[in-house]
Amino acid sequence: MSRKASFYLLTDVHYVSPRNWVEGRPITLRERGDQIALKATPQILDSFLDKILADDTADTVVFTGDNVNNGDLNSHEEFRARCEKLTAAGKKVYVINATHDYCGAGDDENGFGACRYTETGTEPIPFMRKAELFDYYFDYGPKQAISVHRESRSYVVQLCEGARLIMIDDNGNGRSHCGLFEDGVQWLKTELEAARAAGDAVLLATHHPVIPPMDVYAHVADFEMYGGYRELREIMCEYGVHAVFTGHTHMHSIRKYEDDRGRYFYDIATIALANSAAMMRRVDVDADEGVCSVSCVGIETLKGVDTGGKTPHEYLYPINFPGIFEQLLPLGAKDPDAFMELAEGPLPVDKLKKFKFAIRPACRKALKLKLSTAAKFGGVWKTLSPEQRAEAKEKKVADVAFAILRHIYPGNGPFPPQTTENIVLTGVVKKLEKIAEKRKIEAVQKLIPPGSSLVEMAQDVLYNNRTGDDDNLQFPLK
Ligand SMILES: [Fe+2]
Ligand SMILES: [Fe+2]
Repeated sequence: MSRKASFYLLTDVHYVSPRNWVEGRPITLRERGDQIALKATPQILDSFLDKILADDTADTVVFTGDNVNNGDLNSHEEFRARCEKLTAAGKKVYVINATHDYCGAGDDENGFGACRYTETGTEPIPFMRKAELFDYYFDYGPKQAISVHRESRSYVVQLCEGARLIMIDDNGNGRSHCGLFEDGVQWLKTELEAARAAGDAVLLATHHPVIPPMDVYAHVADFEMYGGYRELREIMCEYGVHAVFTGHTHMHSIRKYEDDRGRYFYDIATIALANSAAMMRRVDVDADEGVCSVSCVGIETLKGVDTGGKTPHEYLYPINFPGIFEQLLPLGAKDPDAFMELAEGPLPVDKLKKFKFAIRPACRKALKLKLSTAAKFGGVWKTLSPEQRAEAKEKKVADVAFAILRHIYPGNGPFPPQTTENIVLTGVVKKLEKIAEKRKIEAVQKLIPPGSSLVEMAQDVLYNNRTGDDDNLQFPLK
């Protein structure tokens, strides 16, 4: 066995079988209200798999859950057929599952319902139960494992001589605790002891975040975190595990955790494959050099789709809500009826109907708003240099907002400190924070994590204040 290993990691494929929908309003509205391109998931996955199959420098493929969108058997059949195609081509495939991969049977909190989108609505279709997942995906991980925790479907594989990968399956109750129970935690510790005794480095992979991409995420939705993430952080520091690969947030993010003794690890979160800006991670492990390198790979073409000369991102971005918002403003300024039609799905159109008269003027005003006006509102106009003032007079707030929105999922926000956009928006947020404080607006105050502020929260989306790069990382294996 070599002392080097390379693998591709794909997460949140959210595969939807073409058998599960016919063209019509139900699937279209469902997709518009989501941030993932549901209908194109087979083509997106196949485009990535073609890249993997053409690359003989990486022999392993890892899927970290939400492999299908709604736990239905059609999608599982087709997803597993792709795994089979990979193994037939000589790749090792390691799969774990998550909450979208099964439907609750009334015994947990998982509320996903497998359905087919008809022309007028939805109809139920056969689905996967949690207890069936282990056998169904046995060939893709448990079969090759050097240890399996049957109860949670977690397992350990030898990546290469000197390095192991522990795949922690999404055990728990399907919603408010998605992590290992006590016996699983004991199994994990035993496996970490065994790896240590063998002199092997360990990487972890699981579905839910161990460090959130932004603190506000754990603050407002702690249940979306890996169940027992505080304990797992301690375990990782204790055993010198330097990385956990995660998904679920659909956001590309690399964040470091360091305890008070200087022990650390990274949560390397990968964007959903079903996102228009999809990427997969490439991980290269070199046990001789003691180094792990992480990078990412996207796609240039969308297999089997006539995109009219557009890149996959250009073609897919307008389908879902971040891209729809970008279309809504200019549309509303011209045609409120067309605005209402496109807004159905991502926005509560029924409630908006009352304000239809205000759509055109509001959109026109919002489109015209310059960064210079925002700078004056935020009280930072005088702090800007003459060049920055000229820039602020040129740039529109809407374009800046759209640029930020485009980076929410792929990470690496576009406006670092000292850019005009960052200075102006930070000023605006500071002003809004003061107003919220003065007027005691609880909804805003509740949103702010302890020890943080709205200004700090804004920096999380304005630029990469995490490790500086959500795409690449190199770290020592031990
Ligand atoms: Fe997901
Ligand atoms: Fe998820």
